[in-house]
Order: sequence, then structure tokens, then C-alpha cells
Amino acid sequence: MKSLYVGIDLGGTKIAGALVDRDGSLLRRIRLETRAEQGPQPVIDRLVEAVIQLTDGVRSSVKGVGVAAPGPLDSRSGVVFSPPNLPGWMDVPLRQVLEDRLGIPVKLENDANAAAWGEYWFGAGQRKGTMIYLTVSTGVGSGLVLDGRLFRGENTFAGEIGHTIVDPEGPPCGCGRKGCLESLASGTAIAKFGQNTDPSSLIHSLAMEDGGLVRAEHVFEAYRMGDAQAEIIIRQTVLYLAIGLSNLIHIFNPGKIVVGGGVSRAGDMLFPLLREQLESYLMAPFRGTCEVVPASLGEDAGVLGAAALWTDSSRKSEQGIM
Ligand code: BGC
Repeated sequence: MKSLYVGIDLGGTKIAGALVDRDGSLLRRIRLETRAEQGPQPVIDRLVEAVIQLTDGVRSSVKGVGVAAPGPLDSRSGVVFSPPNLPGWMDVPLRQVLEDRLGIPVKLENDANAAAWGEYWFGAGQRKGTMIYLTVSTGVGSGLVLDGRLFRGENTFAGEIGHTIVDPEGPPCGCGRKGCLESLASGTAIAKFGQNTDPSSLIHSLAMEDGGLVRAEHVFEAYRMGDAQAEIIIRQTVLYLAIGLSNLIHIFNPGKIVVGGGVSRAGDMLFPLLREQLESYLMAPFRGTCEVVPASLGEDAGVLGAAALWTDSSRKSEQGIM
């Protein structure tokens, strides 16, 4: 019987899970509401439920579960600290808790790292060289694949680009500081800036037709329709994202930056502007050295990457990488 793996991604508004084989084929999928606002216990219960459903009938073939969660977290000890986007979590020993409840070995990884690994092996990264994955969704995070290896740093916290400060006088961030890239350019930030526009704005009327709550999509939609207030918000978002990307490029010299997360779905409204702004922030030798492309696996990047944590060493040795 062939070995199977489970990947779970806690990084989005839904808990996404999949049962996969060693080659990254998705055999079963599941999506459950995260409802992060309820705090750790109910979220962990749903995560366990997702794994139980995914492994129903094939439990004995399942060799491991990979869980991608927003950081900061320690992937070695398996402890999630206090992620800005998982309210109420404080030093949760998630790996241990899950192993005790599931009786299956578990690996824990930062959500952006897992998605980086997924895109590197199975998506836009094409298994080549130095690639950075940037997620722009509820939060902003990055995963660094440097010379073919997922780089975690001394404490496994590396890649927290969303919490680099890009404006010391900027808005408060969920991490308790202010002016972080996440506070200025995440999906949450775009929605907040949209919310703060005039109540008679196009952004608000689009939101009203769609449940009332302003989301980043409404701001992009208004921008597509030529709305001036939306344009200011999108240009500001792009400016800060370009600052973040140019910092990554100057430090790591990647050949490719893969941008994923909900905001990357804005596609043509985002990428041409972002590339143009980014080039203008780069030192001359760096210009034209780094492709900025949309993620190709969408929401599957995180689950595939999380599951690949169990299989990558054998695949890498086959390819002579390690
Ligand atoms: C967290 C990162 C995470 C990102 C996306 C940030 O707030 O600090 O670890 O990758 O959100 O979920």
C-alpha cells in the first residue's frame, strides 16, 4: 500500500486540508471554517476533525501530518507563539497536542514557509535556485528558499517580512508594534483603508451589495471601475509591497518571487504596477534580475508544502540536492 500524507493549512480564513501522495497528487480535500476568533481550542478541534475525515479508511497508510500555521512559531519544538492573526494563541504546543490526539507524527511549519515549499516543488518555483514566496492575505509573510533549501534561521522564525517596519509612524499592527508591512499592505489593511473612506464611496456601495463588510476585493473592484479613492489605496499598497520586495531582493538576490495569498488574485490590477514600482526601488545591478510572478497553486500551495515536509528529503536526495 502506498504511503500517504496529510497537509493542513491554518493560514487562511478556512482550514484547508488534503490527503496527498508522495508526488503531491491531491487525493482528497477538505475545507472547514477556521473561526479563529473563537480561540485555540475550537480551532484545534476542527483541525483534528479535518485530519480524521481525510484519513478515514486509509489511516494505516498515513505516515505523517504536516501543519502550516501563521507564525511566529518554532517548527523544531512545534510551539505556536502568539500569531497576530490567531487571537488567543499563546505558546500553544500544537505539534504535541495533535500527536497526542491523532496518534500520527506531526510536523509544524510556518504557513508562508510551507507555501514557499509547495510552490518550489510543485508550482511556480520550478525547483530552481533561490526563490521567495510572499503571501499577502490576512497577514503578510514570506518563505525563503535559498539555493534550493527552505531557510528557517537560528530559531526557525526567519522570513517575517510582514513585520518589518516600513513606516515608523504607520498604523498599529496586530503584533503590537506599528508601521509593519502587514499593517499597511495586507488584505486586512486594504479592507481597513476601504472602510475608512467616505460612507458614500463606491467602495462602501460595493460592500453594501455584498453583505456590508468592506473587504479588499471591494477596493480592487472599485479600482477596476476607475474610482479615485480606491486608486489611492491600491497605489499605497503597491508602494509598500514594492518596498518589502525590494528589501528581500537586496538581501537575498532571488531569481523569482512568487506572490500568493488572497490579494494576489487581483492579478492584472496588481502585478504590472508592482513590477514597475519595484524596479524603481532597486539598485541598478538588481534591476531585471528577479521575476515577480503569481503563485500557481493558489490555496493548495500551503497544504502541498506542509505534506511535502514529510517527503522532501527522499525527493531531494533523488535529485542530488542534499
Ligand atoms: C505572520 C506570519 C505569516 C503571515 C501570513 C503574519 O502575521 O507573522 O508568520 O506567515 O502572517 O499568515
